[in-house]
Amino acid sequence: MSERNRYDEIIAKLEQYSYEYYALDMPTVEDAVYDKLLHELIALEEKHPDWVTSDSPSQRIGGEVLEGFTKVAHKTPMLSLANAFNEQDLLDFDRRVREKVGDDREYMCELKIDGLAVSLEYDAGRYKRGATRGDGTVGEDITANLRTIRSVPMKLKRDFSIEVRGEAFMPKESFKKLNEKREEEGLVLFANPRNAAAGSLRQLDTKIAASRNLDIFLYAVADFGEMGVAKHSEGLDMLGELGLRTNKEREVCRTMDEVFAYIKKWTEKRTSLSYDIDGIVIKVNDLAQQNELGARVKTPRWAIAYKFPAEEVETTLLDIELSVGRTGVVTPTAILNPVQVAGTTVGRASLHNEDLIHEKDIRIGDTVVIKKAGDIIPEVIRSIKENRTGSEEPFQMPKVCPDCGSELVRLEDEVALRCINPKCKAQIKEGLIHFVSRNAMNIDGLGEKVITQLFSHQLISDVADLFSLSKEKLLELERMGEKSVSNLLASIEASKQNSLERLLFGLGIRHVGEKAARTLALEFDTMDALRQADKETLQNTADIGEKMADSIVTYFENEEVHELLAELKSYGVNMAYTGPRLSEEDTEDLVFSGKKVVLTGKLEKLTRDEAKSLIMKLGGDVSSSVSKKTDIVVAGSDAGSKLEKANELGIPVWSEEELMEYLPDEGEL
Ligand code: IVH
Repeated sequence: MSERNRYDEIIAKLEQYSYEYYALDMPTVEDAVYDKLLHELIALEEKHPDWVTSDSPSQRIGGEVLEGFTKVAHKTPMLSLANAFNEQDLLDFDRRVREKVGDDREYMCELKIDGLAVSLEYDAGRYKRGATRGDGTVGEDITANLRTIRSVPMKLKRDFSIEVRGEAFMPKESFKKLNEKREEEGLVLFANPRNAAAGSLRQLDTKIAASRNLDIFLYAVADFGEMGVAKHSEGLDMLGELGLRTNKEREVCRTMDEVFAYIKKWTEKRTSLSYDIDGIVIKVNDLAQQNELGARVKTPRWAIAYKFPAEEVETTLLDIELSVGRTGVVTPTAILNPVQVAGTTVGRASLHNEDLIHEKDIRIGDTVVIKKAGDIIPEVIRSIKENRTGSEEPFQMPKVCPDCGSELVRLEDEVALRCINPKCKAQIKEGLIHFVSRNAMNIDGLGEKVITQLFSHQLISDVADLFSLSKEKLLELERMGEKSVSNLLASIEASKQNSLERLLFGLGIRHVGEKAARTLALEFDTMDALRQADKETLQNTADIGEKMADSIVTYFENEEVHELLAELKSYGVNMAYTGPRLSEEDTEDLVFSGKKVVLTGKLEKLTRDEAKSLIMKLGGDVSSSVSKKTDIVVAGSDAGSKLEKANELGIPVWSEEELMEYLPDEGEL
């Protein structure tokens, strides 16, 4: 046999072994046989470097060092799933499904793998590209790192051009070994397998990902249409036939009792799996029914994720610490004897407020039960009174601010105690941290630590000062080298171009959250226009209530605010909305082209913002008050005066359902 023929033969064999091992879960040879062939292959490639292609099994070892990750726009958005936390949520989901497609429905139940969502693109059967989910619309190109996962086939059994989606993850055993090794080497440990998998796939040196023993399960196809299947279950079977690894524990259920039984089984058996799962995914099996059900903005209506109840763990409450937030609220935080909860070590947990501590009778020294709310934020649920020895101490909130010493007050209708001293340093510092945070001005490299340093060195005292920072001053700080300083200055500079809503949110006007900031920016366009708006105009804006309107007016009446805004302006900080708006040409053929739409009443299926942004994407203009110029009023339940006015003026009124019919599913937009 010629060397070339032998080379091709080895590749075919290695591919077949991987297929049997990963796709069929039926290994036919020992690992050593695979490794021996692989070494023979590598030796041949060293002799004939021109034979090597990117889909050779040798490439799984990594070696490529990337400069960075490029962005990938997903052709069909990568949706996530709505959550269910109990049987009732699932029964509600089933009712909604049956209302739309009838009682003849069946569900595919799958394990919800706790890793990170990725997409794999195959072109005529060959692996072409792999990407992270990112925000669902745009992800990152991680082709090279995904290639190192042995269960990702480089060639499919048929010449299909498809984009498949699944979950990349780190098996529990690999995670354990990795952390053991890191501990020996004195490196920071990964909190859980999910973080370890995500961290591995974001490495520029592909050898690192290759060494991490990642794995993958594919659970969807961007568009099943091309595969000629009628059911999701048939689609998954076909993925297996193509050589892609799917999870075998899936089951088709015909009744909700069967669904509940599946959930019960896996709630009990989950710890015996070799990988982490965080719930069960329930999907309508029939693809035509899936289509009929469609999707909300970010989640399909044909699937739901049942999340396992949060793990509860006992530990000791060592102390209660107080911190002052940006709005002056003083919050007690539990200092705990560190314990592992749902994959991370927890040493602190919120206690919310004094009333709650007393209601739950939580004392310093108590044994307490903690869990992670929504699986993320640690929380103290209760204390175990039986464990008391008598030395536990009841907690009492101080009368004065732990930072500035001024008297704390309890505002009407509030449980929280507040420091109302506007010059309180703790509040100012928290305000600065908020200003630079991701959802506000998003200044990279300016986290809590750097802000604390800048603040204590008196380099900044308000948000405008951030824009006057110089290289020399920054270099004086600890752990700040030339490179980080120039990066930081660049991101401060870049933040000046942010669209208005980021600045508005960042300023921390009371009651103005992220959503409201966006609404205000869209509606008023510039800071000056907003500043001049009176209470009534503000209240006429969708989603802006009296409390918020009051707070905005009060904010802009403040002389110091005028000075601050003038200063920000002088540094070149943008004060206008620059977010997306369709041009007139683009909007001509759209459903709401040139139409003025008013939303009123309570919507059931869409949030106000979703409805608004979708109408706008479809060429419509959403305004807040009904006038002769209004073209359509969409009225939800409990609609009041706006609906009356529409009827008076003879303006067409649509129900939410009617609106929904014109809103295409995500992906068509
Ligand atoms: S289906 C349109 N199936 O869970 C439906 N997702 O919260 C797309 N996940 O982003 C998801 N196991 O990362 C689906 N068997 C499974 C899954 C699964 C894990 C993840 C996925 C998704 C997230 C949704």
